[in-house]
Amino acid sequence: MTQSKEPVGVIGVGWVGLVTAACFAELGHPVVARDILPEKVAALSRGELTIHEPGLAELVQRNAERLRFTTEMDELLGAARLLFVCVDTPPTRSGDADLSRVRAVVDELGSEGGHVLIMKSTVPAGTGETIRRDLPGLAYVSCPEFLKEGTAVEDFMHPDRVVIGADAGDEEAGDAVAALYEPLGGQLVRTDVASAEMIKLASNAFLATKISFVNEIANVCEEVGADVAEVARGMGLDRRIGPSFLRAGIGYGGSCFPKDVSALKMLAGNTGYHFQLLNAVIEVNELQKRRVVQKLLAHLGSLVGKRVALLGLAFKPDTDDMREASSLVLAARLQGEGAEVVAYDPVAAEAARGLLDGVELSDSALGALAGTDAAVLVTEWDEFAELNWTEAASRMARPLLIDGRNFLDSDKLVSAGFEYEGIGRAAGVGYEQTPS
Ligand code: UDX
Repeated sequence: MTQSKEPVGVIGVGWVGLVTAACFAELGHPVVARDILPEKVAALSRGELTIHEPGLAELVQRNAERLRFTTEMDELLGAARLLFVCVDTPPTRSGDADLSRVRAVVDELGSEGGHVLIMKSTVPAGTGETIRRDLPGLAYVSCPEFLKEGTAVEDFMHPDRVVIGADAGDEEAGDAVAALYEPLGGQLVRTDVASAEMIKLASNAFLATKISFVNEIANVCEEVGADVAEVARGMGLDRRIGPSFLRAGIGYGGSCFPKDVSALKMLAGNTGYHFQLLNAVIEVNELQKRRVVQKLLAHLGSLVGKRVALLGLAFKPDTDDMREASSLVLAARLQGEGAEVVAYDPVAAEAARGLLDGVELSDSALGALAGTDAAVLVTEWDEFAELNWTEAASRMARPLLIDGRNFLDSDKLVSAGFEYEGIGRAAGVGYEQTPS
């Protein structure tokens, strides 16, 4: 006799919520996912995805009979005991995490008994304790999510670790969550709620620190004639350092790193502790986005009346997410210097519309490059590695390319007729991609 699997409820069907819902359905669980936006629920119920994430559409289609989308909280509460909270926690004006959506969920749940509230949303350490006090009838588990956009399904299905935080009295709830993840085989980290909350914030802040660190190394490399790709390769082979997140470029963006670094800084500040290192991480990242403008000025003298193409707009490839994308700052700075900006992104153009005031959007890379005085590679889409760069050079008024992600083969570009400059690379040095 086959035993039916434990039903799962998901509250908030954004990136994390939809991936969580689809992946648990793929693992055989009946899933009810609830969002407050009727149009989103209607689209998902028709099998139409609202985000671009490789493999997710197939998963949603394949598991359609186990996946139900609704706007009704009661339907969710009636269907599942285990409730994953996946609402977003954007930054407030002050840089703290905005918990209003989490609070709204808590208020809706009231003192409903018997359910387990599993927090996937990234919240400041201490949030769990407050919610538990407000909802004594519920068990509370912190289970932070570490998935990356673009590889979210893969990350969910093959986690490095699964963090499960439960305080005294909620051990059984922690066991129930552990059982859900057991088939995935990742290392289980069972801990208390506050530590689980800190693991999430500390992990993202550390990765962001690695990126800002390597970006500063890149800036020094430019001064001393070294190549940051070689330096990162040499550093990364030390197992204590590791090769990941040492790709220098024009700064990190996305929905997590900027907000989580700021949230951790503010969380520390609210307790009276001044987290100095994170101030530097944030500032280096802001300045790194702007360095490209200095590079263009060094080549072109002035940018007034110059036409500059941005290749890529999304905060990273394989996503249409524009949140905190470096392209937003870069485009505005270029316009501020008097340049005319034209951009192309294979996937994010629609998402970018409305965010990039006065930027012309082209529907091809070659189209965007036509007649430009310079181009900046902003997002490392595969398509750009395969572009006909000889053709590109012939279309540009001046074939000058600043490779903001050290992504392209500099030798190939130089032989195609380009003036090429990367980030932290000695001119003309070949580049081998380090894994992220
Ligand atoms: C991140 C975390 O990796 C993930 O664990 C967490 O759950 C959410 O935040 P994500 O924002 O999807 O995931 O993207 P990620 O691949 O981590 O990249 C973040 C940013 O850092 C991108 O803008 C990327 O271009 C940049 N980056 C990454 C670098 O500049 N250099 C690197 O070496 C790696």
